[in-house]
Parts: sequence; structure tokens; C-alpha cells
Amino acid sequence: MAKKVTKIGVLTSGGDAPGMNAAVRAVVRTGLYHGLEVYGIMRGYQGLIEDDIVQMDSRSVANIIQRGGTILKTARCKEFYEPEGREKAYQILKKRGIDGLVIIGGDGSFRGAVKFSQEFDIPCIGIAGTIDKDIYGTDFTIGFDTAVNTAVEAIDKIRDTMDAHDRIFIIEVMGRDAGYIALHSGIATGAENILIPERKTDINDVIRSLQEKERRKKLVNLIVVAEGDDFGGADEVERTISEKLPQAEIRVCILGHIQRGGSPSCLDRLIASRMGFHAVESLVEGRYNVFVGILNNKMHYIPLEAAVKNKAKISDEWMRIVKILAS
Ligand code: F6P
Repeated sequence: MAKKVTKIGVLTSGGDAPGMNAAVRAVVRTGLYHGLEVYGIMRGYQGLIEDDIVQMDSRSVANIIQRGGTILKTARCKEFYEPEGREKAYQILKKRGIDGLVIIGGDGSFRGAVKFSQEFDIPCIGIAGTIDKDIYGTDFTIGFDTAVNTAVEAIDKIRDTMDAHDRIFIIEVMGRDAGYIALHSGIATGAENILIPERKTDINDVIRSLQEKERRKKLVNLIVVAEGDDFGGADEVERTISEKLPQAEIRVCILGHIQRGGSPSCLDRLIASRMGFHAVESLVEGRYNVFVGILNNKMHYIPLEAAVKNKAKISDEWMRIVKILAS
């Protein structure tokens, strides 16, 4: 018989993502609908360990659905990865009588949740929130759509000036371990080369393609690089290309944290609302130690352990599309 939850805590953890507020709002209001007490845990696991916790009511999540960042704030908490940190967190929850946890974050946050749920009898449920979209078992993560649209808007602007000067531009987008932002924004802006951590970068191949395009008088070339590419970031790529093609006019732009901010897109607000709602329903129904994902437009509950053991894969089809469309 599943343990009945009565008081739940919600936290946002790791890198913030546009739409996290919409998810918090959905968790709070669905929780209240089911007669639960809902507590906002500030600064992720760090606030949990420090007992930085506030009770939420319906009004405390008013007027936030359209806001980027997270009203609960976030942190990357090293202490929670140690057994002593998790023990402290458990004692705080026990003291407050909080008997269920909703964790909104990426795979690092899920890793913490897996350990915690193995050690303590507190039902945990994850909501996939990361701009990187690198979580196994879901087609969507909260924040990716907004981030990738921010990148596309910025790259389109750069393309105007790049085209006016017949230049090569190397644009670095976020993604320490994942190339989804690079891949999607690169395809959507017609990039000639897209370099991602999931594929070994052959820089000589990139240089050959630039030389071949130069022969065809195609002087405008856009290279989108994920920050975590195995060859290095945009600066490293620029240095190497400049050495081999000293005559080329190359400029670099690192988009950086602009991709993490801003008002969430309609899609991110929708998936955040759906995931937040289903996370609470799932806890109430006694289904936990899973995260809420969406596959083929249906809600799916994927064990947190599977999420951290597996990696989201980029299909070769995408890579073929890049090659063929960039000619
Ligand atoms: O949230 C994911 C992410 O944006 C990665 O793409 C990036 O590498 C990292 O966070 C940056 O984190 P921080 O803001 O802590 O430097």
C-alpha cells in the first residue's frame, strides 16, 4: 500500500530554465487542490539542508507563469552529494513533517534524488527542467524551447552582419555535455557546420568544407559550436581555423547565459504546467521515484534511476540533415 502524502516540498535545482516558475505554480496549485500542504524549498538542495523553507499558498505563485528564472531560486549543491548532507536534509523534512518531494531540475538534480530516495523513505518525483534537453526518456524538458528560440533569434541577427561582410562566424551556444541547443539552433539558422559533444569533431573536415565553399565563392559560413564540444569551444575552433585559413575573415560570438533567461515560450509554459500537475497527481496516486516526461505527446513516468543511468541520444538522421542542407 503506497504511503499517503500530506505535506509536499517543491524545489528547483541546478541551472535555472525558463518555465520553472510555471512548473512551481502547477505543483503548488495542484497540491492545494488535493488538500496537501505545499512548501517551497529555497535554493534547491542547499536550502533544504539549511531549512530555508516557506509555506506556499495559491497567491504565492500568482503572476509568475510568464517569468523566467525561478522564484524558489536555485543552486548546485555539493553537500547533497555526500551522505551527511542527505542525512541533514532528511532530518529537516522529518522535523517539518514533509513527506513528499518534487524536484524540478536536470540529470544532476535527479542523481541527488535517486540517492536520497534509496536511503530514506521520502517519496520523490522529478520534473525534467533544463535548457540542455539532455534527459533520457522525454521528448521535452522545461526551458529548452525558450533557450533554443533565444539562440535562433540571436544567430539570425548575427547572420545579417555576417552576410553583409562575407564573413565566417563561429557561434558558441550552451551545452556542457549536450548538443541539442547547437543542433536545433544550427539547423534552424542554416548553419554550415554544427559541432556537438555527442560526435567526435574532425576539425580538418570543417576546414576542408570551408575551403570547398570558398572555391564556390560561398564566403558566408556559419559554424555553431556547443560549449562542451570535444574539440573545444568557439575560441579554440577559431584559433585552429585561422591558422589553416589565414586569409579568412572570422569572428566569434559566445551567446552564454542570455540563453537561460527570458520569459518562457508558450510551449515551455504548457509542458511545465502539464508536468507540474502530473507530478502531484502521481505522488497522490502513490507513484514515485520517477520523473514526469512527455513521449509522443503523452505523459510518461520514467524511473529516476533509469534517467541517470541512460543518456539521451542524438540520432544520425539529424547529422545527415545538417550535412545535406548545408551544401
Ligand atoms: O543549465 C545547463 C547549463 O546551462 C549548461 O548548458 C551550461 O554548461 C551550464 O548550465 C552552465 O552553468 P553555470 O551557470 O552554473 O555556469
